[in-house]
Amino acid sequence: MRPIVYIPRDSGALALGAEKVVRALEKELEARGLDACIVRTGSRGLYWLEPMVEVETDDGRVAYGPVAPSDVAALFDAGFLKGGAHPLSLGKPEEIPYLKRQTRLTFARCGIIDPVSLADYEAHGGLRGLRNALAMTPLEIVEEVTESGLRGRGGAGFPTGIKWKTVHDTPADQKYIVCNADEGDSGTFADRMIMEGDPFVLIEGMTIAGIATGATRGYIYLRSEYPHAHQILNEAISVARQSGVLGPSVLGSQYAFDMEVRVGAGAYVCGEETALLDSLEGKRGMVRAKPPLPAHEGLFGKPTVINNVISLASTPIILDKGGPFYRDFGMGRSRGTIPIQIAGNVKHGGLFETAFGLTLGEIVDDIGGGTATGRPVRAVQVGGPLAPYFPRALFDTPFDYEAFAAKDGLIGHAGIVVFDDTVDMLKQARFAMEFCAVESCGKCTPCRIGSTRGMEVLDRLRNNVKPERQLEIVTDLCNTMKFGSLCALGGFAPYPVISALTHFPEDFRPTPVREAAE
Ligand SMILES: Cc1cc2nc3c(=O)[nH]c(=O)nc-3n(C[C@H](O)[C@H](O)[C@H](O)COP(=O)(O)O)c2cc1C
Ligand code: SF4
Repeated sequence: MRPIVYIPRDSGALALGAEKVVRALEKELEARGLDACIVRTGSRGLYWLEPMVEVETDDGRVAYGPVAPSDVAALFDAGFLKGGAHPLSLGKPEEIPYLKRQTRLTFARCGIIDPVSLADYEAHGGLRGLRNALAMTPLEIVEEVTESGLRGRGGAGFPTGIKWKTVHDTPADQKYIVCNADEGDSGTFADRMIMEGDPFVLIEGMTIAGIATGATRGYIYLRSEYPHAHQILNEAISVARQSGVLGPSVLGSQYAFDMEVRVGAGAYVCGEETALLDSLEGKRGMVRAKPPLPAHEGLFGKPTVINNVISLASTPIILDKGGPFYRDFGMGRSRGTIPIQIAGNVKHGGLFETAFGLTLGEIVDDIGGGTATGRPVRAVQVGGPLAPYFPRALFDTPFDYEAFAAKDGLIGHAGIVVFDDTVDMLKQARFAMEFCAVESCGKCTPCRIGSTRGMEVLDRLRNNVKPERQLEIVTDLCNTMKFGSLCALGGFAPYPVISALTHFPEDFRPTPVREAAE
């Protein structure tokens, strides 16, 4: 049988040299007069091992990584096409502890299949959820999603079933499904990974959402920094259309659904759902006041479901296995699994899908392996650039929406950025204000003006200008922004500042004058 070699085409792997490894493999195959089929997959999400090369053997797949072009000849010498032993051998990928400990529901196929092969997708359980949905009434689909306990993975954790029900119940001649693929939070890449590694699961999820709510048209609002995802999504949408998954009769049914990708222009605020809608309508992305809710009056004034990529991509498994199956994972009101993205100064950075409930310490220390620099972890930021910083003292917090909120934290899109003990928390606090000043849409004063004033106050603090007074002003300013901003951009910018002040007060103490002068 012709050997099969799998190498990711995911942009994380490409950034680490996957394309060069493919070229080296092709050259070596030719030089040795050998033949093999090279299949391009998504990534398994173990980024410190990328480029990870896998080969099909009689006993399943065997992985090698991280592979450099200079390793390729030695891999052939070791008989890697038959799974031969080599120092880079990782054994069976599913036995690598980082993967073995995961519960992959949403990412079950990612890194395994050819992302643009519908046959591969179906062979690995794809389209079962959509087929089940087609045999149900729209309301039954909505109820199944409600039953699953799925909450929006974009940040706010709003129950997906309730959102779908509102759109389902709102009569209109046209409704829309909008997928939020703006993925602007620091340390996040789950949306990108699934769009590049298993785009059909998103297409299937959006189609299910369309049938459930009566929407016939979908848009994926994709951040401009994701050109590979753009190409793969377009390829997959075109395959889905040719195969009758999308179009006037979804899988031969009475339902019509089609979609397209729209690329943003690089503004963080355009990830906020109403600014996103403005941008999608061709306007400058400005936050809209609510009500009306997008579910009542969204895109072009029509009822619209706006969901994050992961929320939508999690619905096929719910419709395949049933709401109770999904709900059985997790803790408290955080049901199902969450793809945690471990990033920053961390040894084992990557994607870790697991049921809610692991503690932050388990994730950072055991799974992430601590810092890449080998220095002690001092702080982590979970939930994006406007989320609070947690010290080690809060590492016993379980990964659960309510448990995080009880400690003034947020899960957001589940990106974790790790910092070692060299981090300067005053600098991080200033960065939050600077980020807010740069990204503010300008609609409301606390955010537009407050963020710039916040930078100035923190600069004065750094320069020892009446430090006690600056601490009073920054606390007051943070309260004004938190309670007076129209959206979460201005409303959350104070969180990194307040948490840094609370948990790392030593970084805000006046510097002795002599030291400050040095
Ligand atoms: C400033 C700002 C940026 C946001 N960026 C994103 C984003 O990049 N992706 C996302 O899915 N949601 C983002 N959100 C949340 C969205 O407004 C919205 O809650 C989400 O798309 C709803 O989908 P979900 O219910 O599936 O989470 C952002 C919110 C704010 C305030
Ligand atoms: S908080 Fe900032 S981003 Fe949000 S509406 Fe106000 S100015 Fe715009």
